[in-house]
Amino acid sequence: MDFITLISFIAIVVILLMIYNYVNYKVPDSLKDIHSITFFSIVLSRLIKREGGHDKLYLRCKEYFERDGVIKMSFRGKWICTITDPVIVKEMCLRTDVFPKLMFNEILPNSAADRHFGVNVVHSNGDVWKRHRRVCNPAFKTLPVHLFVEKALKLMDILEKVDNKPIEVRDFMQRLTLDILGKVAFNFDFNNLEDPNNPYVTAYNEVQKLFRNPLVTIFQIDKIPILNQLIFRKIDKLNNLFEDIIKEKRKSLAAGHFNGDLLELMLKACDDPDNQILSDTELRCNLAIFMVAGHDTTAAALSSLLYLLAIHKDVQEKAREEVLRVLGDDLTPSAEQHAALKYLNMAIRENLRLYPPVCII
Ligand code: HEM
Repeated sequence: MDFITLISFIAIVVILLMIYNYVNYKVPDSLKDIHSITFFSIVLSRLIKREGGHDKLYLRCKEYFERDGVIKMSFRGKWICTITDPVIVKEMCLRTDVFPKLMFNEILPNSAADRHFGVNVVHSNGDVWKRHRRVCNPAFKTLPVHLFVEKALKLMDILEKVDNKPIEVRDFMQRLTLDILGKVAFNFDFNNLEDPNNPYVTAYNEVQKLFRNPLVTIFQIDKIPILNQLIFRKIDKLNNLFEDIIKEKRKSLAAGHFNGDLLELMLKACDDPDNQILSDTELRCNLAIFMVAGHDTTAAALSSLLYLLAIHKDVQEKAREEVLRVLGDDLTPSAEQHAALKYLNMAIRENLRLYPPVCII
């Protein structure tokens, strides 16, 4: 197949997909009164006006958010609601029978997302969620703060060596949080801060890039035979890495080694006779979602927080004064010290309110 034929083939597939989406563009009765915007208008305002971000979306639809607390947009033939009214958000989170969470194997079967994330604690409902959650529970109870500190100090070292050059904050935060998550989740050092081009980091980043690529997210090329093999190869590489980590971990636990990472806690929880065990594939899917849930979210939150502190110098001063006063020479905050950092915690919460890293559930 020559280049022109390939491009024509892709163009035809794209047009067919757009027609398919258009035909499915039907508003359910229950959503009829909610103001609509089109997904393509968001993409265009990002590309042409360079207006990305939830704050820009808020300003664009302020009238409707203030009046109704919700707007809707069509995406791949489905409707997504963006909600700003906390009362509606609470209702949706509590009424899981009426508002179940999306499941990749139901809404995007055999897609890239389904292949990598499958069914996991985030993407499951009812009894399946309970089974996953029981095994993941111990992982939510431990907070290895010393690991955060260790990696943050390494980041400081690297930043101090940058001489009079602009710093790409988001990139550094992504590298920091990937290193932390790797250690916390399965005691694996991605070493992204010191060696961002190593094969493990590349394998991980290539898969994350796929899920941000419009060819996958909008045009669903992961559904097209042959083309999808290029995508699945990258996903399988990372899936295999996670599966190897699980096998190694089983072996080291059997040999009596225990260092308390999330995967170990989950494997131990599977041994508890009160819990239903998770298969290796289910454990792998949970590792995949823990990595994304913990890595991208915290990197986004840290980046926007640093931005806000940079433009609000008075807040930065107060937060710094509080940290120095509460921590003194301690580098690893205790639970009490953490609770005493009231002003900093308020700044973090306001940052999460203004720039929520997770806006689709
Ligand atoms: C700023 C940081 C974070 C934000 C904004 C955030 C946000 C959220 C939100 C909105 C949900 C609810 C999803 C839903 O119900 O569908 C959620 C669930 C979850 N998050 Fe996070 N998260 C953050 C950090 C983390 C970290 C560091 C981890 C793990 C290391 C993590 C792991 C999870 C898991 C496993 C769930 C599913 C819990 C369940 O359904 O039982 N998150 N997160």
